[in-house]
Amino acid sequence: MKTYRIAAIGGDGIGPEVVEAGLEVLDALAARDGSFTLEVERLPWGSGFYRATGRMMPEDGLERLRTFDAISFGAVGDPLIPDHVSLWGLRLRICQGLDQYANVRPARLLPGIASPVRTGALDCVIVRENSEGEYAGQGGRSHRGLPAEVGTEVAVFTRHGVERIMRFAFDLARGRPRRHLHVVTKSNAQRHGMVLWDEVAREVAAGFPEVAWRFELVDAMSTRFVLNPASIDVVVATNLHADILSDLAAAVAGSLGIAPTANLDPERRGPSMFEPIHGSAFDLVGRGIANPIATFWSGALMLQHLGEAGAAAALIAAIERVTAAGVVTPDLGGRATTAEVTRAVIDAVRGANR
Ligand code: IPM
Ligand code: MG
Repeated sequence: MKTYRIAAIGGDGIGPEVVEAGLEVLDALAARDGSFTLEVERLPWGSGFYRATGRMMPEDGLERLRTFDAISFGAVGDPLIPDHVSLWGLRLRICQGLDQYANVRPARLLPGIASPVRTGALDCVIVRENSEGEYAGQGGRSHRGLPAEVGTEVAVFTRHGVERIMRFAFDLARGRPRRHLHVVTKSNAQRHGMVLWDEVAREVAAGFPEVAWRFELVDAMSTRFVLNPASIDVVVATNLHADILSDLAAAVAGSLGIAPTANLDPERRGPSMFEPIHGSAFDLVGRGIANPIATFWSGALMLQHLGEAGAAAALIAAIERVTAAGVVTPDLGGRATTAEVTRAVIDAVRGANR
């Protein structure tokens, strides 16, 4: 029997609600499978921790996380703490500190869910560069408060960083039936970092002759997501571009409430982190109607990363059965609560609905 050690960081807003729902579902999968168990440790980090200690996570937080096999993360963000403080103190600190450089965001129209656009079909994976680019944290402020005040936000692209994300994306595309990759760029306007990005993409592409690929400018890519989403398979984009495109993809797939993320260290030097992309959603806190599906789907990505492909597939099948049956939360036009969706997915996992 294998045991996986999972760090659960519910964080802020609806994060704890959906993470707990996700852990219930993962337990049901472990029980069904019989070949692995999950040993969960809950870490009370986030904005509450910040109010009590002045830090979003303990000083040795990263060291502690390194001892786990995976991290289940909820959300970070609090109306009373500046977003850049809470974010850089926890989520980005973990992603950058553990060098989880590949952020993977599948978007698919699930059975029973209507897209707000006349799509036909959507089944894609966005690969977001997760360690540098526009969110590298470089820049500064000077002449504060004076008319001459200046703020810079420097986008950083390194050959090392671009090469590894391109390899990851081409490799992912090669493993999918359509073997297609859009390399998103903006090298027409940004003539340094983005031109390096393009050059490295071409070099890496040479090693993947099986993958059909093309460049797409980010603005054109956004129209493609609305007008012809069926033409999209795998997408690789910078930190900022993929941040925006992945919200667009989630909206086209019906709701931000179903969109999952994996923050992967493909080299497995440390744990990877799995989270819904919806954020803390304070308007929903405590109402019991947060959509847990994004967290469940993130749990499937976690199981896949841990090597439990059978359990991951069973979870995806259970989610599809529940959305097809219309047991969904209000963001998807339904009336089910978080607990009801969770129960339905657990029943589907156990085969009760078969
Ligand atoms: C996301 C989120 C975060 C990000 C925010 C909260 C900074 O939008 O996961 O896409 O861009 O990293
Ligand atoms: Mg985002």
